[in-house]
Amino acid sequence: MTELTGDRPSGHRHGPAGHERKSLLEDPEEMRRSGYEVVDAIVERWATLRDGPAWQGATRETTEPMLHGPAPEEGRELDGLLEKVLGEVMPLAGRIDHPRFLAFIPSSPTWASVLATFLISGYNIFQGTWLESSGPSQIEVTVLDWFREWLGYPAGSSGVLTSGGSAANLLAIVAAREAAGNPERGTIYLSEQSHGSLARAARVAGIDPGRVRLVAADGASRIVPASLRAALAEDRAGGLHPFLVVGNAGTTNTGAIDPLAEIAGIADGEGLWYHVDGAYGGFAILDPEIRPLMAGLERSDSVTLDPHKWFFQPYETGCLMVKDPGRLETAFRIAPDYLQDAAWGPEHVNFCDRGIQLTRIFRALRIWLSVQRYGLAAHRAEISRAIALARGAAARIRAHPELELLAPPGLGIVCFRYRGPEHAAVPATALDELNRRIQDEIVQSGFAMMSSTRLGGRLSLRFCILNIRTTEEDLADTVDRIVTVGWRLGGSVGA
Ligand SMILES: Cc1ncc(COP(=O)(O)O)c(C=O)c1O
Repeated sequence: MTELTGDRPSGHRHGPAGHERKSLLEDPEEMRRSGYEVVDAIVERWATLRDGPAWQGATRETTEPMLHGPAPEEGRELDGLLEKVLGEVMPLAGRIDHPRFLAFIPSSPTWASVLATFLISGYNIFQGTWLESSGPSQIEVTVLDWFREWLGYPAGSSGVLTSGGSAANLLAIVAAREAAGNPERGTIYLSEQSHGSLARAARVAGIDPGRVRLVAADGASRIVPASLRAALAEDRAGGLHPFLVVGNAGTTNTGAIDPLAEIAGIADGEGLWYHVDGAYGGFAILDPEIRPLMAGLERSDSVTLDPHKWFFQPYETGCLMVKDPGRLETAFRIAPDYLQDAAWGPEHVNFCDRGIQLTRIFRALRIWLSVQRYGLAAHRAEISRAIALARGAAARIRAHPELELLAPPGLGIVCFRYRGPEHAAVPATALDELNRRIQDEIVQSGFAMMSSTRLGGRLSLRFCILNIRTTEEDLADTVDRIVTVGWRLGGSVGA
């Protein structure tokens, strides 16, 4: 048995002169026992995920009486607390890793990455400076170097792990603004299909919303280069200072990949920082068939990746990759006296210099342990499998007379809607409402979790497939259910 050093918990309930002492320490045996219990709960959850609902939620009216209350003055037994958490709190949530959770962008972490998460909290590594975490910092350097190679970035490129894609996009915008000399009339160019985190990041970075241009996308949701050129010309003529263009390696709505090489050419010619948002789709570059579609991504100045999406990591594991980490450090480094001991020289990266977090968790361990445990090939195969599943689901939808694809499948995303049998065509004006009701019914039943979007002014049902447990049957069953519910509801909508 490992001895705890420092204050022994034995007798920790009694302080000097017989006074009861309140302690935050735990007995080692109790730690083991409760720790195993937590592991058992997670393993049990994973083993039975498919049997439970994909989503369960409750209104505040229900949650408040169940869960709200004052902070207790006295501690309680862990067993009862865990029972409450596992029985009453955790179930009221989306089961994001349920095989039929197809909404938004799901996430399905590997076991190794979950274990790593427990470890990094238990060891409570401070991953801000090399001084305080040389081994862990080396692992982050190494993981970032893997990403660098996968993206086709040159040696010397690197980055920083972040809480997610939103944080990475913010860092990219600030780095680009700083690299441009913080122009007073700075203007940035996004796609009208860009993720909302970019416009929010621009707001946080103090860029006037009027100088955030949303460039038109074509019918396949890809930026139209001619529109980008026109917007740039107009803004230059108007005395503005364009400094950043953002392309997408997989849009959130449809999984579209922008013409990344063409945008690279424009960015080169105009002297702009070129950022690619690959939060959803970036890791699909590992798929040999997708890689050519992302040609030009390697010419960018920075890329957002989100390992907690399509690289099978738990929340919060995001990443910003930059071609020149020096520019990131110029934008974010601080050098207060109280950190002077942490300056070990440029070889020894202080990750706090590459973003806004001084105190950072050791996120890299999740990715490192996952890749070491299962191999890169297994991660790549899962990405390819999801793409194949999406194509299969799209083919099924295309072949079904009552369904309509609203966009070509993009990476793992399929957008479609129920339109009813041809002989009893539902009026076009009622289709939005019908599809909204189909989705509500399926979500409320817990069978599958779906989310909708709007494409070309029409409400679209949407599958985002990336879960390591999702099967062809899961998708076929969900499609069948959509048709069954649609058929039943069809008569009552818009009639
Ligand atoms: C393309 C894209 N960019 C950025 C984000 C934001 O990432 P996060 O939710 O990790 O902050 C998302 C999230 O879905 C996304 O799909």
